[in-house]
Amino acid sequence: MQYPARSILDASYGWVVSAALGVVAESSTAEIIREAGPQGCHIDDIAKKNGMDPTKIARVLRPLATQHIFRELSPNVFAHNRISTLIDTGKSFRSNPGCYTGAEGLAAFVLLNTDETFKAAGYIQDVVLDEASESSGDEFNTALNKAFGTHIDLFSWYEKPDNRKRYKRFGFAMDVSRKLTPPAAISQGFQWSALPEKTLIVDVGGGIGSLSLEIAQVNPHLRFLIQDKQGVIRQAEQHWETELPGASAAGRVSFGEHDFFGPQSVKDAGIFLLRLVVHDWSDAYALKILKHLRDAAQSTTKLIVIENVVPLVCGEDESFKHIPGAVPTTLPPKPLLPNYGIVNMVPYFVDIQMMAILRGCERTFPHYWDLLKKAGWEIEGSSYSPWVNCLPDCRKASLKLDTRSLGPKFAPMSIVFGCNVRKTVSSSRLNRW
Ligand SMILES: C[S@@+](CC[C@H](N)C(=O)[O-])C[C@H]1O[C@@H](n2cnc3c(N)ncnc32)[C@H](O)[C@@H]1O
Repeated sequence: MQYPARSILDASYGWVVSAALGVVAESSTAEIIREAGPQGCHIDDIAKKNGMDPTKIARVLRPLATQHIFRELSPNVFAHNRISTLIDTGKSFRSNPGCYTGAEGLAAFVLLNTDETFKAAGYIQDVVLDEASESSGDEFNTALNKAFGTHIDLFSWYEKPDNRKRYKRFGFAMDVSRKLTPPAAISQGFQWSALPEKTLIVDVGGGIGSLSLEIAQVNPHLRFLIQDKQGVIRQAEQHWETELPGASAAGRVSFGEHDFFGPQSVKDAGIFLLRLVVHDWSDAYALKILKHLRDAAQSTTKLIVIENVVPLVCGEDESFKHIPGAVPTTLPPKPLLPNYGIVNMVPYFVDIQMMAILRGCERTFPHYWDLLKKAGWEIEGSSYSPWVNCLPDCRKASLKLDTRSLGPKFAPMSIVFGCNVRKTVSSSRLNRW
């Protein structure tokens, strides 16, 4: 409990942590501190290695250490704790900064948030309060466009020569974001193993294909096609060759450059997979993607959409109760809010991130229902899994958070598994949601 004035001021200073984290992650400070060992590292020694002003190093580390990200062991000597190690790439501080191949931890994701997103976020209020531009429906007048002086979408901006490192980092950030969900969320949320031999799964806007990779690792009977923009597809090929060598040569995976705003040429997909794609776009643009997939679908093709579903703070709208998994059946213990309160902020964080860098949004279940229906899809079922109670392994410090005490259903996440339904809704239902 604290005074209301403190609460509101603390909230308004939220940017401080992002700014400080950005400096630390970008300056290899986390790597330098790790290399110094458990006794910690003096700011002068950090400065000798990364060239920063030592007092500024202390100034960015202290607000973080106050929030239990790093520790100040003695005056100006900082060491890692189990939270701060997650922004350490695990690589030598001398290695190519900004290269996340083989990196551990969350640095790529943190920098997506603290670099382009953070810079854009400063312009959110200007953009959303600008009535003329809001009513014009201009897709490319986002806070990111204002911050960087462009008039193109995020991904086209990433393709510019100056931003290629950022685009690569984005791919790794997506890979990391997948690891933040519980390991079984995807593999157990849908019966992949029940799909017929050689079913083709088309991962549309699949990035470096990390979700498909996870499914492929335990389902050797399935085939995958990863579709994305040209540069990303090259990165995907390398990623698979490292993580599942030989899969490409064996015909288990292929890669194709594809613009999802154009017609989908693959007509024999068993599954179209869309993970964190729909949320990037406004309804008008998301509809284009969904309709192209609908046009290319066979009557047996399923669409699987994996997104955060925004929970209402007051508790869920019960009108979709008849759809398996659409409405959580358990409520959190009081005094937690019906949406689990601050332990379940991820959907709202990502929603405002979409407001900053694109014209997309996180959607409520009814919003997804309407959107998919307009594109000719009907949701057959939904599967939720917890967001908040998992952390990726951190090898070097064995930093596994023991989540058992929180219980398996501590907070609802948000995976919508939508299924293609052509004429009859009930006859093509899958057995298990
Ligand atoms: C938020 S990422 C999600 C990536 C991947 N599905 C995952 O979950 O890791 C969105 C992806 O859409 C891709 N993308 C953006 N515009 C595209 C377009 N017009 N056609 C195909 N892919 C596109 C981006 O390159 C990016 O990889």
